Order: sequence, then structure tokens, then C-alpha cells
Amino acid sequence: MINYLNKKVERLLISRNFKKLYYVYHYFTGGFKAKKINISFENKKNRTEIVQNIINLKNFNSYLEIGTFKDELFNFVNCKTKIGVDPAYGGNVRKTSDQFFKENKKTFDLIFIDGLHHYKQVKKDIINSLKVLNDGGVILMHDCMPKDYYYQAVPRCQFEWNGDTWKAFLEIRTNENVDVYCCYADQGIGVILKRKNKNRLDINLKDFSKFNFNDYVENYKKYLNLIEYDDLINILKNYA
Ligand SMILES: C[S@@+](CC[C@H](N)C(=O)[O-])C[C@H]1O[C@@H](n2cnc3c(N)ncnc32)[C@H](O)[C@@H]1O
Repeated sequence: MINYLNKKVERLLISRNFKKLYYVYHYFTGGFKAKKINISFENKKNRTEIVQNIINLKNFNSYLEIGTFKDELFNFVNCKTKIGVDPAYGGNVRKTSDQFFKENKKTFDLIFIDGLHHYKQVKKDIINSLKVLNDGGVILMHDCMPKDYYYQAVPRCQFEWNGDTWKAFLEIRTNENVDVYCCYADQGIGVILKRKNKNRLDINLKDFSKFNFNDYVENYKKYLNLIEYDDLINILKNYA
């Protein structure tokens, strides 16, 4: 009975009418004065091409995807070992990322983080992924580049949505022990490499969940350490 009620409430919260209500809420709590970024992902590489090209380029053997949904990426990834973790859809491990990392003993060459797009969860997914990333391995993160306030507002208020992944991404950009970039493609593909940071983001903020959206809009190229796909491939060619 409790399970049934939980599911009903969950469905209500993600329904179209609730999204409209959240939109109005976000408008009045910041959206009305928020700036926008003029970007488009048309004519850019998509995540499937990026993931597969990196696997091929680096001869990677093991792939982990956090959040698989309809397997639109997972099904098309060609790699010796593939694990896809999702509590509800797709993949081959039916768990939350927290449950998975708690029990997992494997390590990976490439990890694609695309689960729950909430700052706190993404931050945990990054920290846990770094613990199981092989030397010379790569972490990719989807949805690092929201183009307006509503794309990133939590709770979700529209179909196309990045969540506030960008805040966790900017926080890891300040870490000197990882080298972090954002590839201008497919909603912003964050890239984390296991080596000294070559262009650390020098921002001293206690709580990145409170990062100001207009500040991000005004400085997004610098804050994200934005690169094009060709730059990414050149960086990876010289990374071992
Ligand atoms: C944006 S979709 C993933 C899309 C997929 N990676 C792709 O490229 O097509 C996000 C998925 O994350 C899953 N998810 C939500 N919370 C999660 C959690 N705590 N751990 C892992 N996955 C989660 C959702 O069930 C949903 O299927």
C-alpha cells in the first residue's frame, strides 16, 4: 500500500501540470531576471559518437554508465565490459548509483555520469567514480552546459532539462588533483582526467549549490574550461 502511494506521489510530482507549477515558481524566484547563453548543439558531435571514439582511440576495455534510461547510449556502446546502472530503466544493473558503488569491486576505463541531475547526487557520483577509475581513464559527465535558468532549475520544470549538474562540475574544476574540461557538444560533456589540473578554476565558494546562475552565464567559457571536440581528441591523444 505504501509503495503504491509512493509511486502515485512520484508520478504526480513529475507530471506535466506539476512541471508548469514549478515553472511559475522558478520564474518568480529568479527566472524573471536570469540571463541566457546563446548556444546551440546542432552540428556538434553527439554523446554516442564521443563515447565510442574515446573508447576506440584509447583502446578502453571497461565502460560504466550511471543512469541509462532508454539505453539510447548504452545499447550503442561497443566495449569489452559494459555496466549500466539505473534504479528504474535500461542498463544491466537495477540499482541507484549509491547502492552500486557501495557494493562494486570493479574498476573502469571510461565512466559516463548521467543519473540523477541534482548537485548533491552528481557530486557523490563524481567522487565515487574517481575511486574506481583506472589510471589513464576518463570520466565524462552529461548536461554540464545549461543555456537558460529553467534548463537547470530544481525541481525540474520542463522536458528538456540538465538539472544543476553544472554546479558539481564547477566544484570539481577547483580541485588541483584532476584535470577538467567541458566539451561544447550534446548539452555539455564534462571531462575529468586523473592528473594535475592544468587550468584550475580559482573560486573559493563554501557551498557550490548556491552558485549564482547569472555569474555562470557571464563567465561560462572560462568557468567550464570550454573546448571543442577536436581539442578534446588532441588532449586525449597526449594523456596516458
Ligand atoms: C537522462 S537519463 C539517462 C540517459 C542515458 N544516459 C542516455 O544517454 O540516453 C537519467 C537516468 O538516471 C536515472 N537515475 C535517477 N536517479 C538515479 C540514481 N540515483 N542512480 C542512478 N541512476 C539514476 C533515471 O532513472 C534515468 O533513467
